[in-house]
Amino acid sequence: MSSAGSAHLLVASNRGPLTVVPVEDGDDKVTRGGGGLVSGMQAALSESPDAVWVCAALNDRERALARQAPEGRISELPQVAEALGGEFDVNMLAIDAQTFRNAYNSIANSTLWFVLHRLYDLPTQPVFDARWRREWASYVRFNEAFANALADAAAQGATVMVQDYHLFLVPRMLRDRRPDLKISIFTHTPWVSADYFTMLPDDVSYALVDGMLGADVIGFHTQRWADLFAETAREVTGKDDSVASGVAVFPLGTDPEEMARLGDRRIVDSELRVLNEIVGDRPLIGRVDRTELSKNVYRGLLAYRELLRTRPDWRGRVVHAVYNNPSREDLPAYREYTARIERLAEEIDDEFATDEWTPLVFDIGDDYPTGLAIMRRADVVFVNSVRDGMNLVVLETLVLSERSPAVVVSREIGAAEVLGDDAFVVNPFDVTATAEALHQALTLPQDERAPRARRMRDAAVRLPPTQWFRAQLDALR
Ligand code: G6P
Repeated sequence: MSSAGSAHLLVASNRGPLTVVPVEDGDDKVTRGGGGLVSGMQAALSESPDAVWVCAALNDRERALARQAPEGRISELPQVAEALGGEFDVNMLAIDAQTFRNAYNSIANSTLWFVLHRLYDLPTQPVFDARWRREWASYVRFNEAFANALADAAAQGATVMVQDYHLFLVPRMLRDRRPDLKISIFTHTPWVSADYFTMLPDDVSYALVDGMLGADVIGFHTQRWADLFAETAREVTGKDDSVASGVAVFPLGTDPEEMARLGDRRIVDSELRVLNEIVGDRPLIGRVDRTELSKNVYRGLLAYRELLRTRPDWRGRVVHAVYNNPSREDLPAYREYTARIERLAEEIDDEFATDEWTPLVFDIGDDYPTGLAIMRRADVVFVNSVRDGMNLVVLETLVLSERSPAVVVSREIGAAEVLGDDAFVVNPFDVTATAEALHQALTLPQDERAPRARRMRDAAVRLPPTQWFRAQLDALR
């Protein structure tokens, strides 16, 4: 057993609460990471003395910075301390570049992400060969680096909260090193049926599930994902009681104050004015995603095209705004997908646009205020993911929209369970049914739309990040 450190509360995640970006004079600028989850965790962490967030350096700049820091305590560097406000420590692991790339790009974002979102094109994928085995060995080393850092930093009896599929092996590794710790793992993605999960090599399915079973509490966003995990665990371990009592559901919601702070800025106002010049007083179908295969923007655009083709009355009378934040551009499949949705967007524009009407506002960029402007203006919020652990954006849009929006969501996302019958719930593969749901949402009378939007908004804010985090702490302690 390692000797105990001094931290009583530890969070572990691949992506940490800091972003290091190069600035013009060759220096690095360190900022706090965005997003409700980061701020919620930050709020909760800063209440605990000696809290530590352990994360990976994601690129060469971060690795260089992490290597300068005493024992990786990047929060002790002056430029980082300033960005963090000294509320807790960050230990950024400078894992070597090759190991990191294999673990993150190949195993976490290709294999595990694809399995958990059912993204494989089965006639040719997945392939588990010798090369894949080397990448898997990197994933094991990556998880070991986290387990070692956590074991070193944790005080006797400390609480460790591990996040997501990048770190599925950590709970068991940490339990072996430090049996005194209280450990949770939260999976932000969906889970899949046992027969899909067990496409993975047998020893790998076992290692992943057993790795997670090393935790005292195994958290998911919804009951559906929790049940599928329990089914997978039974199948993979061959034991009916493998999951004992540890699986629990914590449906992450959004923080209305945080969203208002982000949304009510002058920069968003000016983006909204630009958008309004295009949209006019037409209803707007809005969506804001990462350029992510699981988000299903492709079929979303097909559904919008089908709406305009089959219900020509909508031509000239509706606008669809799609804002996509570039994501995981190192992966060829992501670059190809992005190019494909761009082509489809152009085709839709060619088919329908007139001098007076822009049917589709399609934007791929890093400019989050554009996304926030769409969220404020949306009359219909549209999320048709192939699968999605929760989909916080739909919850955030319910909080930000100034127009009591109607909501069209995929039945394959966690948020469908949270929003219930007040949303129009669709099969994400059924383009015709999705087009029909968009029509229904657009024509929902105001006296029905407003109470539905109110109830969905209440559901969206039921468990904001800080409370979500505390609920897990309570479950652990
Ligand atoms: C999902 C995962 C997160 C991840 C995020 C962004 O929401 O559950 O763990 O941080 O995607 O992905 P990225 O690869 O950019 O960190």
